[in-house]
Amino acid sequence: MKIVVLGAGYVGLTTSACLAQLGHDVTCCDIDDTRIAALRCAEIPIYEPGLTDLVRTQMQAGRLRFANDATGPAASAAAVFLAVGTPSDARGDIDLSFVEAGAASVAPHMRSGAILVVKSTVVAGTARQLDQLVKRVRRSDDVTVASNPEFLREGSAIDDFMGADRIVIGVDDARSDSVLRAIYKPLTRAGVPLVATATVNAELIKYSANALLALKIGFINDVADLCEAIGGDVTAVADGIGRDHRIGTAFLAAGPGFGGSCFPKDTRAFASTGRRYGARQPLVEALIEGNEARKRAMSERIIKATPHHGRVALLGTSFKANTDDVREAAAMIIVPILVKAGLDVHAHDPQPGSAMRHLAGIHWHDSALAAARDADVTVILTEWDEYRGLDLDRLCMAMRGRLLLDFRNIIAGERAARAGLHYHGLGRPAAIPEPTRRGQGTSPALHVAASPA
Ligand code: UGA
Repeated sequence: MKIVVLGAGYVGLTTSACLAQLGHDVTCCDIDDTRIAALRCAEIPIYEPGLTDLVRTQMQAGRLRFANDATGPAASAAAVFLAVGTPSDARGDIDLSFVEAGAASVAPHMRSGAILVVKSTVVAGTARQLDQLVKRVRRSDDVTVASNPEFLREGSAIDDFMGADRIVIGVDDARSDSVLRAIYKPLTRAGVPLVATATVNAELIKYSANALLALKIGFINDVADLCEAIGGDVTAVADGIGRDHRIGTAFLAAGPGFGGSCFPKDTRAFASTGRRYGARQPLVEALIEGNEARKRAMSERIIKATPHHGRVALLGTSFKANTDDVREAAAMIIVPILVKAGLDVHAHDPQPGSAMRHLAGIHWHDSALAAARDADVTVILTEWDEYRGLDLDRLCMAMRGRLLLDFRNIIAGERAARAGLHYHGLGRPAAIPEPTRRGQGTSPALHVAASPA
């Protein structure tokens, strides 16, 4: 099928490449000429494992092309996907202007019988509003609007598309239903379940799914604080509760507070929608506040554990592993607080490009060990595999101090202690080397760091 995707950002690009991989003829359009020129040379502006290869393969196969004007390709497409940005304002409300502008600009050029599919994350009711807009613009009801939310995680977006737990299609008419089922036939034939429901439900599914996943993280972070206070181990607790299949083990890893372009924005939009419709979402409102406070509390831990004007090594600045994205990453809150407190911050990230543009006043290094040289405290902030396999003996030797704060719980405490480090995870018992090993006892910093946030 001929498909146009409006928007060559993270979602638009991944969706375009994956739809081409399913065998469709895809044109991915964006009004950013520079971006399109780069994409035509198969230069991918974001770091996403496998995406560059997939784009190149699909371009070579002639199933994927890029354009800065959608009007021509839209005239023959069976479906136009809207994958443009939906930024949020200070109150958490979603700005729909890009979605509306995209729909208004492409609708007059679509062929009769085609469908417009909203892939962008939008508040409930948007597809129905756009349907009215399209009808007005076309002075006809021969193009209908559907919703098809994405559930792609950065870092594993291609796998999430190809091996989705489910495909959700929001359809208010039979034509949208049959076109979307045809588009996803290669996946449903391979066993991926498809949930077809009204557009408003599909939109609510997207926000509710992200809100519930974020609530799991917020909950386990609170449990981690309790574990610290009582002397428990949150990893054991998470494993024990997660094995109840009604709960599940996923998204129960305690951390420095969730970030990224989705959870923070989507939870704010969910809460804001609740307020607007008089159906407040107190759980999610508390979650948002707790998550932001947690990022600040992590900064306080580091400051308390570091000598005055001391040196801190930060390992990982992206909001999670396998992405270079720093949007709402814990590092974006923590770094400015550390710098303001007068600490000398040395950072490493395997994909530092975006972080280097956004984080000022710190020193960047090519390796974790280089960042840790002469550090009083080393902090693991992102769970990159590279840090799981850190040579802890060399880390200990490189550092001036001994404290390792593992805000992702990816290092075994005993292993760190054997290397001579004073280890503190989140919600886990501290691990401290035998006093004789290096002739050192427990440092005062350790006692401070051990107190819950
Ligand atoms: C999230 C959802 O997982 C996707 O299903 C959804 O499609 C996407 O948002 C979206 O709405 O577009 P993403 O933002 O890529 O995907 O990242 P996640 O893997 O969900 O992680 C979000 C944040 O939660 C990260 O900061 C991560 O470090 C944190 N997290 C995640 C934890 O702290 N603990 C966990 O156990 C899991």
